[in-house]
Amino acid sequence: MDRILSGIKPTGQLTLGNYIGAIKNFAKVQYEGETFLFIADLHALTLPIEPETLNKNSRDIAAYYLAAGLDPKHTSIFLQSDVSEHSELAIILQNYLYMGELSRMTQFKDKSSKMKEEAIGLGLFAYPVLMAADIVLYNANRIPVGEDQVQHVELARDVVKRMNNRYGKILAMPKAEMVKVGARIMSLSDPSKKMSKSDPKGDIYLSDSLEVMRKKIMSAVTDMGKEIKYDPINKPGISNLMTIMSSLSGKSFEEIEKEFVGKGYGDFKRAVADVVVNEMAPFKARYEEIIQSGLVDEVLSEGAKRAKVVAKETLTRVQHAIGLYRK
Ligand code: TYM
Repeated sequence: MDRILSGIKPTGQLTLGNYIGAIKNFAKVQYEGETFLFIADLHALTLPIEPETLNKNSRDIAAYYLAAGLDPKHTSIFLQSDVSEHSELAIILQNYLYMGELSRMTQFKDKSSKMKEEAIGLGLFAYPVLMAADIVLYNANRIPVGEDQVQHVELARDVVKRMNNRYGKILAMPKAEMVKVGARIMSLSDPSKKMSKSDPKGDIYLSDSLEVMRKKIMSAVTDMGKEIKYDPINKPGISNLMTIMSSLSGKSFEEIEKEFVGKGYGDFKRAVADVVVNEMAPFKARYEEIIQSGLVDEVLSEGAKRAKVVAKETLTRVQHAIGLYRK
């Protein structure tokens, strides 16, 4: 039986990129195996964050998971910090990952290049160590993520190889998997950049009102020419909007191109906005209901209990293999 695992870091407001590349897909694949989904709150500490913001963002992610259709009876939904085995295993794994490979991680390079050296925390550097621990604790073989996280999953594979070569087959081999369309949604204001949690103009936030979402799409940067054509090199803006439309509507790029032959960018953007609003309206309404209901705490506490059982078993197996035990 497959073990599926993924997580989202509660650093900022979730975007349409997170929804398309991750959350919507989690809901789709959850019944294909035993699924563990967490809120990576310890990872959120790798950059400065206010305690109230961290706490609110974490609960929001849990509510968004539920609003997207994740079923807490089947899928264990929990806070990373509620399962202390994540931290314990990370302390062990840090000895099997090396400075050179950690300093080559794209995410570390991106984030640290904007900071003074004195301000770069060790946690930011060691981020992939904790992420490897997250993954291997659940013997997960399938790791659904957006494109930007694949490099981290690759590093988790390396550490599994190292541990298994040295100590026998103690850990399952994880593999990153991405949605076919939408694993890298780009910024609406600069389609050469990924839509991230920190670019208010180029991002669609799940917390934006439907009107604001519509406005942002209508003012998205487009390209030269006037054809609606999927061509990420020459038409990155239109191709990004086509990706959003395709992933939410299920229509292929060819179908979209055919539908908009002879029509302009304005018509096309209006249609993209309709698709986004139609998807987001019920999703946002469910989110509001869930936040009001008090369900989140119950789900997180139940999820942590179930996750802990599996995590403890793996940690004990690793401790035994490496010599950390009493007779
Ligand atoms: P995070 O919180 O940055 O993003 C959560 C998920 O959303 C995907 N994503 C995107 N997909 C498509 N287009 C985009 N523009 C876009 N932006 C983000 C991400 O790839 C991710 O799948 N390190 C992780 C959290 C984490 C984790 C893990 C994931 C911690 N431990 C173990 C998997 C397994 C992160 O910061 O994701």
